Amino acid sequence: MTLSALNQQPESPYWQGLNPAQRAAVEQLDGPVLVLAGAGTGKTRVLTTRLAHLLATGKAVPAQIMAVTFTNKAAAEIRERVSHLLGERSVEGWYLGTFHALAARLLRPHAERVGLKPSFTILGTDDQLRLIKQLLEAENIDDKKSPPRVVLGYIERWKDRGLLPDDVSNDSFDIANGKLPKLYKMYQDRLLELNACDFGDLLLHHLTLMRKHPDVLEQIQNRFQYLLVDEYQDTNVAQYLWLRLIAQKSKNICVVGDEDQSIYGWRGA
Ligand SMILES: Nc1ncnc2c1ncn2[C@@H]1O[C@H](COP(=O)(O)OP(=O)(O)OP(=O)(O)O)[C@@H](O)[C@H]1O
Ligand SMILES: [Mg+2]
Repeated sequence: MTLSALNQQPESPYWQGLNPAQRAAVEQLDGPVLVLAGAGTGKTRVLTTRLAHLLATGKAVPAQIMAVTFTNKAAAEIRERVSHLLGERSVEGWYLGTFHALAARLLRPHAERVGLKPSFTILGTDDQLRLIKQLLEAENIDDKKSPPRVVLGYIERWKDRGLLPDDVSNDSFDIANGKLPKLYKMYQDRLLELNACDFGDLLLHHLTLMRKHPDVLEQIQNRFQYLLVDEYQDTNVAQYLWLRLIAQKSKNICVVGDEDQSIYGWRGA
């Protein structure tokens, strides 16, 4: 059905109360759409109405949709709001959740291709710090001068920028006796031995999986015809690269974010 035909239909209830700008952002289903607006102005509402519109018009079935949020609570809220907009119809089988949850779900069946078993565990901060401490000891680095928390901070920032151990240069770092890149490599190797990863790895491993295995990439790009991202201003470079790769074929990506906060995902990407 064309949009003009749709507009002649009696109004679906989910349009009610949208202002013209929100409505335009919902109607533009194909191609990339960036919505920047202030806090509390109805950005998430655009996203939920767009989801309802995609489903109500049959443009997409739930399995073709990926919607990314920053917290599990936000995901639950979107699930509820969309179901409400569709007359309390529940929506199943879509990929709705945080970057971490979605990446973990997509990674698990292919874990072996990145050196993990499908039963891999996800380490919390305490375990990460304990591991770094062991590595510092093994390298005879004083953990008073180079606290595990600081070392982990560097590693996590590299991961946020999508950088793997091989991408990190051997520049001199004041801490860890200049061995930070080596520690990063040791940390990653140890995690694989433990059949574990940290939160940053979920996305990075999945990115690596898609980059190295064209069959996996093709399957994902064909499957997810519509991507929607809430709180886009908080996206880091790794997350941006992940979204860009998944949406590369369909180009149907809608991101909504707060105009008053920097969109640093676009910077340095
Ligand atoms: N066009 C509108 N007219 C009246 N109320 C609206 C409109 N759009 C959204 N609202 C209401 O404003 C409130 C905020 O909407 P929403 O959560 O979508 O905004 P947001 O921009 O995502 O907020 P945040 O910056 O907190 O993420 C909600 O209660 C929503 O129902
Ligand atoms: Mg919002």
